[in-house]
Order: sequence, then C-alpha cells, then structure tokens
Amino acid sequence: MMNISKKKKLRLLKELKRRPLTLWLYPDSILREKANPVQIFNTVLKDFANDMLFFMKQHEGIGLAAPQVGILQRIVVADIGESPICLVNPEIVTGSGTENMIEGCLSLPGYEVDVNRNTWIEIRGKNLDGKRVVNKVEGLMARVLQHEVDHLNGILICDYGELLSEHEGFQLLDKESERDV
Ligand code: NI
Repeated sequence: MMNISKKKKLRLLKELKRRPLTLWLYPDSILREKANPVQIFNTVLKDFANDMLFFMKQHEGIGLAAPQVGILQRIVVADIGESPICLVNPEIVTGSGTENMIEGCLSLPGYEVDVNRNTWIEIRGKNLDGKRVVNKVEGLMARVLQHEVDHLNGILICDYGELLSEHEGFQLLDKESERDV
C-alpha cells in the first residue's frame, strides 16, 4: 500500500467529519475518481460508516460507497435485510459464476442497467476496528459488493450497458413474467 504523508492522513480524517452527507449524482466527475485507501481506524471512521448506513436506509438503498456522498475514500456499506456490512479498503480477490440482473444506483436516480456479474466472490478488507476480514459471499450481497467496489474505482452501472429508464426496465420485467405465465 502506498505510503502517504501525515498531512494527507489528517486531511482524509477531517474529510470524514463533513456533514450533512449529501448524494452526488451522475455525471459529477467525483464519481469517476479512484478513492483513497483509509489509513486511520478510529471513532471518526466508525461515526462516518454508521452515518453512511443511516443515509443509505433513508434513501432506500441496499448499498452505498463513500464517493457517492462526495468522500473519496475506500469505504462501503451494504444491508440487504440480514445484517449490515461495513468494509474498509475492500478488494475482490476472486469470483465465479456469472448472472445478469437489472441494477439501479442511488447516483443515477430513475435509471437501470442490465449488469453481468459474478454470483460468488471472495472479498477481503478491514472492519471498522482495522482488523483484516475475509468474506465469501454469494447471491444478492455478492452483487451489491461488486457494485460498491466499482464505485471506489470510478466505475458506474452505465459502463456495463445501455441506460434504461426505470419505466422501460419495468416493462421488460413485465414481458418476462408474461412469458413465464
Ligand atoms: Ni451505486
């Protein structure tokens, strides 16, 4: 990992205290930048991650990455209704299986894209105490974490295919369900 100056570490820490959190929307250039690794694990980081989770739920999201609230740091949160996950400096080590699914993103309100992703991943990173964690994840949580790690690298769902308006997306789903019946 890159060695960064004490001055930069303090600047990054100060940035995590910025409130209120606000949603940055496509096509803002901040969503295209690569986020910085977190170096300091303390209560400032914990408060920020907890506020991210609260903010995500307020916006009815199931995942959120720090760049989406204008903070270029490698922090993601997710909650698909089981237990919330906060991961710092996450890295997807390996993955297998592929599946397409129509995804939305809080940063592109009203739009959806059909995205092909791995159905199973191994993801490493640190928890909020700075302890190394390794998670093997599948299904929806695997998809959400791949989506959020993309945000840390400036990648958005529109990079995977044509943007559909939410309305068009629902029409496609309706057609499919008609075929099933
Ligand atoms: Ni997103």
